[in-house]
Amino acid sequence: MTTTTFNPSSIQLQRGTFYTAVWGCQMNVYDGERISDLLSATGLQQSNEPRGANVIVLVTCAVRAKAEDKVFNQLLSWRHQGIIDDHTIIALGGCVGAELADKLVELNSDIKIVFGPRTAHRLPQLIAQYLHEGRPQIAVNADALEKFDALPAQGARGVSAFVTIMEGCSNKCSYCIVPYTRGSEESRTLESIIEEIEGHVSNGVKEIHLLGQNVNSYRGLNAKGQLVHFSTLLYSVAAVEGVERIRFTTSNPMEFTDDIIEAIGFLPTIANHVHIPVQSGSDRILKLMHRRYSANDYRRLIAKIRAVRPDIHVSSDFIVGFPGETDEDFAATMQLAEDIGFDQSFSFIYSKRPGTPAAEMDDPVALEVKKERLYQLQALLERSAAANAQRLYGTVQEVLVEGLSRKNSAELKARTSSNHIVVLDGSPELIGQQAFVKITQVMAHTLKGELVHV
Ligand code: SAH
Ligand code: SF4
Ligand code: F3S
Repeated sequence: MTTTTFNPSSIQLQRGTFYTAVWGCQMNVYDGERISDLLSATGLQQSNEPRGANVIVLVTCAVRAKAEDKVFNQLLSWRHQGIIDDHTIIALGGCVGAELADKLVELNSDIKIVFGPRTAHRLPQLIAQYLHEGRPQIAVNADALEKFDALPAQGARGVSAFVTIMEGCSNKCSYCIVPYTRGSEESRTLESIIEEIEGHVSNGVKEIHLLGQNVNSYRGLNAKGQLVHFSTLLYSVAAVEGVERIRFTTSNPMEFTDDIIEAIGFLPTIANHVHIPVQSGSDRILKLMHRRYSANDYRRLIAKIRAVRPDIHVSSDFIVGFPGETDEDFAATMQLAEDIGFDQSFSFIYSKRPGTPAAEMDDPVALEVKKERLYQLQALLERSAAANAQRLYGTVQEVLVEGLSRKNSAELKARTSSNHIVVLDGSPELIGQQAFVKITQVMAHTLKGELVHV
């Protein structure tokens, strides 16, 4: 592993402002937050609107074709509205950066800098170099963990903070571009993760959300140089004084081992919600997806988790219309969703990603059929999420108060351990605190509650 001695604050950029826009998964949100810390350390001021910003950083997602299009459309619309001009330094990073690299500056001449998920920390250097040389700068390849060693300390994050514990993915599910954009899987050391968490706690963070494409395959070194598994990391995070709640995303059903299930049983700090993407309920499709578990393996896994936490909420990701998916395959997915009773989940129509094995598979199913299947699945998922939320009615829930409600700033927004948003009346002084709230109303996507005690 190579580490850099690069000190971001040693690069002082011209006085100016930067704006960041983030698409995609929580790992991108984490990278976007770290980029903000980094650019602030160089002397630039963060702006909350793109107009007038000297540097605009786009942290992009490539998981579906539409995710990419969104970025290009955004640039076009900023151009037309006069929000950006020839002097704006557009730095495009994230997964589209890694996927298309130097092609991007040919596709859109507004793009001056291209970086990837692994090179976010090099942004100040790339900006300085662009200003010096006046030509586009492209840097997408680096050691996976170099970024974490080179970034400055985390800034303040409110009551909940993301902490990326590993970079990349080596699973190579047949439809997925992530292993090609984020590279193969590498885990951070236990020490560096705990150090980052301690920093957050000293800034008032109470909930730690561990991130990785496949957190349950975490294999990091401890201070003695021994390899530790995800369950050990969970115990270590729970032992950090001040950590009141732990979440983790995403878990692959394949490696959700018994030691992790045991940790969920032992550690009340682990939130009462797990997100475990299943993708499909058909064994034939799961095989074609290269997911390495069957629908019944998934059912057994959820049953085991519910044996240690009977009321745990489970959410998932689904891909509908994978190449060659038949009515029978889809019926198996509906059956699985019916059997599990998921919470709010994500479901998308399969999107062909160039360079992945599934892109070469025959895909005779009409888009209209796929749309109809998606509609049916989403209706079922909505129904089960609503039924699960209804279970909370009349109960007293421990919540963390995240801030003011977006719809009505006279109300507070809080989050239950089960990952439901609750709005309630209360003093803004409660923001950042734990509170106990009685659930008085269950609406489609939020709950209403009354403060019982702090
Ligand atoms: N590592 C996680 C998923 C990361 S990508 C896991 O394996 O569970 C987030 C979600 O995007 C996936 O769970 C999948 O449902 C969806 N996705 C990935 N590639 C896709 C594609 N080509 N078309 C449609 N959805 C896709
Ligand atoms: Fe993609 Fe599969 Fe890795 Fe998830 S586990 S990021 S779906 S390759
Ligand atoms: Fe998208 Fe990259 Fe995350 S493709 S989902 S931003 S890992």
